[in-house]
Formats: sequence, structure tokens, C-alpha cells
Amino acid sequence: MAHFKAGFTILAFFFSLTFLTAIKSETLFARRLSAQDQFRLKPEKMTHLRFYLHDTLTGQHPTAFPVAQAAITNTSSTFFGLVAVIDDPLTVTPDLNSTLVGRAQGMYASSSQSEVALTITMNLVFAEGAYNGSTLSVLGRNPILKNPRELTIVGGTGVFRFARGYIQLRTYTYNATTNNAIVKYDVYASHY
Ligand SMILES: *[C@@H]1O[C@H](CO)[C@@H](O)[C@H](O)[C@H]1NC(C)=O
Ligand SMILES: *[C@@H]1O[C@H](CO)[C@@H](O)[C@H](O)[C@H]1NC(C)=O
Ligand SMILES: *[C@@H]1O[C@H](CO)[C@@H](O)[C@H](O)[C@H]1NC(C)=O
Ligand SMILES: *[C@@H]1O[C@H](CO)[C@@H](O)[C@H](O)[C@H]1NC(C)=O
Repeated sequence: MAHFKAGFTILAFFFSLTFLTAIKSETLFARRLSAQDQFRLKPEKMTHLRFYLHDTLTGQHPTAFPVAQAAITNTSSTFFGLVAVIDDPLTVTPDLNSTLVGRAQGMYASSSQSEVALTITMNLVFAEGAYNGSTLSVLGRNPILKNPRELTIVGGTGVFRFARGYIQLRTYTYNATTNNAIVKYDVYASHY
């Protein structure tokens, strides 16, 4: 029993040495920062942004372009397999001619066979005032016929570093002939 205990202690010592070595070697490329002193993080705050996204597929100045589709997309009632790349303007009011606050750049894919639902990956790139140049990265499922629906904020840059949060989407107008839509965005972002 005593032998076993001694053996165990030596083994534990050996493992802790290995562990320490592992941490030490990590410092070759990583270092810990103190949030207050070195990183200068301000207290966490919550920001609500409201704007309108214009998803224009047809007309004189489209900003959403289908780039690929599956063989079944044409016969699918949910456009399953359709992929589009967007550079959609974001404005203060539903009027496309109102002040531009930024653009939604990214892509969506129709990815449900049972309802019209998009998988969205995009960056909201802001261009107005203190937010000019900052971005929010968004990932989410967008069942476009549901109101409201919700997307996830997974990160951000500039004033939105370390951002997380959610976005509520409500369809403002949708034209079934042109497939063009105006969607109201209510962004709730927590950041520093
Ligand atoms: C789907 O329909 C469009 C327009 O009707 C046509 O241009 C396209 O080739 C079709 N795609 C497939 C995969 O059948
Ligand atoms: C926006 O402005 C342009 C040119 O000034 C005009 O042609 C267009 O009709 C306006 N659009 C809306 C929705 O008011
Ligand atoms: C945003 O920043 C860009 C580049 O820094 C600048 O050209 C542009 O005028 C700015 N826009 C606004 C609305 O401040
Ligand atoms: C949909 O767009 C078409 C073509 O621009 C237009 O004629 C029609 O009035 C629009 N429908 C609605 C409900 O706005």
C-alpha cells in the first residue's frame, strides 16, 4: 500500500511537470492579458440599432444575386438549394432614399425542404457616425414567412469588438412578383 502511494505521488508529480511544461510552451505564441490594465476594456454595454434592409433581387439595381441552385430548386416550393450573395443597403427608414447606415454583405442559402427558411452568413458593415467602419458578424436561420424571426450576432469589429446578441427581423414589405423585400431589423448587441 505504501509503495502504491509513493508510486502514485511520483506519477502525480510527473504529470504536473508535464502539464507545467505544456503551459510554458504555450507562451511561445500566446500571452495572458489583464482585461483592465493592458486591454483597456470599458464596461460592457448594450446597444439597440434599428434600420431597414432592402433585399432587391430584380429591377434596375439588384443587390441580391442568386449564384447557384440545385436541380430541384426550380420544382421546390421552398426554393431548396438556392444560394444568393448579397450587398444589401441598410437605411434609417423603409424609404430606400433615406440615410444609408450601412450594408449587409454575405450570403444566404435556402436550406429547408419543408418551409422557406434561409441559412444566413453575413457581416453588417456600418457606414454612419461613430459606427462607421465597425461590423457585426451574423449567423442564423431565417424562416422568412415568420414574424418576428431571430438571427444570432456571433461577433464584431471596431466599436463592436467582443459583440454578442440577437437581431429581430420583421418583414415590412414583400413583393411576390419581384421577390424584393424590405425587412425591419432590431439589433440588440452587447459589447464593450
Ligand atoms: C431553372 O429555371 C430557370 C429559369 O426558368 C432556368 O434558367 C434554369 O436553367 C433552371 N435551372 C435548372 C437547374 O433547371
Ligand atoms: C429615390 O431617388 C431617385 C433619384 O433621386 C428617384 O428616381 C427614386 O424614385 C427615389 N426612390 C424612392 C423609393 O423614393
Ligand atoms: C466613413 O469612413 C470612410 C472612410 O474612413 C469615409 O470616407 C466616409 O466619409 C465616412 N462616412 C461617414 C458617413 O462618416
Ligand atoms: C410588385 O412589383 C410589381 C413590379 O414592379 C408591381 O407592378 C406591383 O404593383 C408590386 N406589388 C405590390 C403589392 O407592391
